[in-house]
Amino acid sequence: MKNNNHSDRVVIFDTTLRDGEQSPGATMTHDEKLEIAELLDEMGVDIIEAGFPIASEGDFKAVSEIARRSKNSTICGLARANYKDIDRCWEAVKNSSAPRIHTFIGTSPLHRAIPNLDKDQMAELIHDTVTHARNLCDNVQWSPMDATRTEHDYLMRVVEIAIRAGAATINIPDTVGYTAPVESADLIRMLIEKVPGADEVVFATHCHNDLGMATANALAAVEGGARQIECTINGLGERAGNTALEEVVMALKVRGDIMPYHTRIDATKLMNLSRRVATVSGFPVQFNKAIVGKNAFAHESGIHQDGMLKNSETFEIMRPEDIGLSETNLVLGKHSGRAALRAKLEDLGYQLADNQLKDVFVRFKELADRKKEVYDEDLIALMRAGEDTENDHIVLKSLEVICGTHGPQSAKMILVIDGNEVSTDATGDGPVDATFNAVKALYPHSAKLQLYQVHAVTEGTDAQATVTVRMDDKGNISTGQSADTDTVVASAKAYLNALNRLHIRRGRLGEDKKEINYKDTAV
Ligand code: KIV
Ligand code: ZN
Repeated sequence: MKNNNHSDRVVIFDTTLRDGEQSPGATMTHDEKLEIAELLDEMGVDIIEAGFPIASEGDFKAVSEIARRSKNSTICGLARANYKDIDRCWEAVKNSSAPRIHTFIGTSPLHRAIPNLDKDQMAELIHDTVTHARNLCDNVQWSPMDATRTEHDYLMRVVEIAIRAGAATINIPDTVGYTAPVESADLIRMLIEKVPGADEVVFATHCHNDLGMATANALAAVEGGARQIECTINGLGERAGNTALEEVVMALKVRGDIMPYHTRIDATKLMNLSRRVATVSGFPVQFNKAIVGKNAFAHESGIHQDGMLKNSETFEIMRPEDIGLSETNLVLGKHSGRAALRAKLEDLGYQLADNQLKDVFVRFKELADRKKEVYDEDLIALMRAGEDTENDHIVLKSLEVICGTHGPQSAKMILVIDGNEVSTDATGDGPVDATFNAVKALYPHSAKLQLYQVHAVTEGTDAQATVTVRMDDKGNISTGQSADTDTVVASAKAYLNALNRLHIRRGRLGEDKKEINYKDTAV
């Protein structure tokens, strides 16, 4: 008997690139997925669920490339309960030195009704598909989707079938974020105690955050015997998201006294990963988010500050440097040189070649001329604004906006589209509307604006604004971001960034568009 469910080691399974990326609007480009996978690998994530290979050409290519490149992590792909999905998944992951196929089917009464299978038919399908996956790959994970709303006797029956068919990991998803900690622990405990063969496999927990209990439910599942936590960076994921990786990792670290389990994660890399995922997904982290929120280590009130100065443990249960936040937020300014900028950027997780640094330094000086103090957040926004721009199809050359109290506002704009200069004057209800109308006049398109969001990067009236724009072109969703001390310029650039990204995707024959959603039934 292996007794997998009694060790003190918890395996971290990151699904940022699959469940997280599946969230509408969080679509990442191929290169961004490779970058995030590399960072997850370096941080010590045991298993990276890199995508859902049958969903689109883009997903397939990304999973294959991540499988080829990954150094330490097991690379997993998702597949529904049919041979075509499983074969495609295997094709994508097989080049990894440690591949895994993750196949699943919805087992609750509501989910059984979709493919219209009775309990026996579904049980047979589970046996056949897990066997098929196991014939291709030594490492198979099986999930009964909506497990927490599946009848217990049926859940035990199908888990036993999957174990007998060769699954090495049984994942118990709380697909709709319905369970509560006590129930989460009890369910895993019951399965381990009652299902024959349960001690030969690893039980995993996969929680969604609809009631705000995803982290608590995952930790409770570990108490119940689960030894794999499925999670995402920043809790990214559909609806209210998934269990946040940084929360479970730090909870196990800080409260090892009552939860004596450990992971392989290098927590000092958490902050950098959180920032990168926020940037590439276009889903900003809420200020008061546990562990990685901007305010997670900020102590504003007088009493707190006094206590902190005397002894930081008065109000802090972990230190900023534990998650990779530098202790001092060294501020740069217009007199800072290239070496200081390089050191600061390295601190923030950016390794730049000399020519890249040269380009960033020019933009840094421009910013420092307009803004007295340049903070970490400003530099991150600056780095983000410099991404993707090199080969842009549409570039903003100039923008002049006239604002009056009694509108309409007008925008005079010059764009360079594939090297050709075009210009127009447009009006609108406010400066941003006038600017967006000018873009539409110069570059007619059918994409609809889904989201427009402005964040001040730092305090003060000279603060940079980070603007996020999400566009929907017939289901192909693209997120653009930019930052500038001028909110309207940042808005124009973010809008163009989203259009440029849509353009790249169209050029790749829609490879990033998901043709199939993992919730579509294809048995
Ligand atoms: O939430 C869920 O049930 C899933 C499965 C595919 C594991 O993401
Ligand atoms: Zn999920």
